[in-house]
Amino acid sequence: MTTASDQGCRIVVTRTLPGALMDLIRSSHRCWINPEERTLTAAEVAHHASALGAEALIVMAMDRIDAQLIQTLPDCVRVIATYSVGHDHIDLEAARARGIAVLSTPDVLSDAVADLGMLLLLGAARRAYEAMQLLYGGKWQGWSPTQVIGRDLTRARLGILGMGRIGRAVAARARHGFRMEVHYHNRSRLGDGLEDGAIFHDRLPDLLAVSDFLMLAAPSSPATRGILGAEAIAQLPHGAVVANVSRGDLVDDEALIGALRSGRLMAAGLDVFNGEPSIHPGYLQLPNVFLQPHQGSSTIETRIKMGTLLLDSIERLRAGRPVSNRLV
Ligand code: DGY
Repeated sequence: MTTASDQGCRIVVTRTLPGALMDLIRSSHRCWINPEERTLTAAEVAHHASALGAEALIVMAMDRIDAQLIQTLPDCVRVIATYSVGHDHIDLEAARARGIAVLSTPDVLSDAVADLGMLLLLGAARRAYEAMQLLYGGKWQGWSPTQVIGRDLTRARLGILGMGRIGRAVAARARHGFRMEVHYHNRSRLGDGLEDGAIFHDRLPDLLAVSDFLMLAAPSSPATRGILGAEAIAQLPHGAVVANVSRGDLVDDEALIGALRSGRLMAAGLDVFNGEPSIHPGYLQLPNVFLQPHQGSSTIETRIKMGTLLLDSIERLRAGRPVSNRLV
């Protein structure tokens, strides 16, 4: 699907984007946009980049932009722009080696992801899945004093692992909306202006020990992969609730499912999974998990902002101007 516009940049987009963005891209740029609802193969990405003479690729978190793919890209590709804040799917060193700039979408999605994070905490703590099953399963007998009893978020202790932009947006909602006591562990302590009353723990076990609710908001990296495993779970208070808005690989699924099954943990709210779009079947058999299909940033306002940020940055780079969302 190639536009006739000779203006702007030549851009390959690996998935269909919200309509307003498609219109914007088509009206201002020459583009090829994957018309199918599926992830392209590496060979297809390289093929379409060559066929269009693309200067930029707009890729998704599900695209695997590894060293091999980057090596096969034609020389015309100067920018890889990911329609995500996470960039664990891109080999940054390989891009750097080829002199290709890499862009992402920080800031603009923090509020939407943090909102979804609160939905996960609430959905898990208030046993939303079980409650919905009563209704949808036609089993509801009417109000009962003992029906689907959950736990309060209000004034409870929330531990946040990873206090970047998304972690801080969760903290603000928890503290000012739910009057929670916020604790966090991060690579380094935040400056005073950013802490907003949150209590820093230099060591992860110290954070876990006070986390009646735990939010995973750290990026996926060799240091965080599998960080919520059996050892970490054993350090959480009995009956804790965990939520994950980051990446599925922060979690050891077997350990988490075991702890949810035994009651060691009360519940989990998960938006991200190992091996997406597959989900460990154990989660689907548990009543005490509240699942979402990886849609932290999925509001129309946010998805438009993510796209316009990338397009603006691609144009700025082309004009030799600096951009704030450049990773490499
Ligand atoms: C992100 O932006 O990283 C989200 O997880 C969507 O991919």
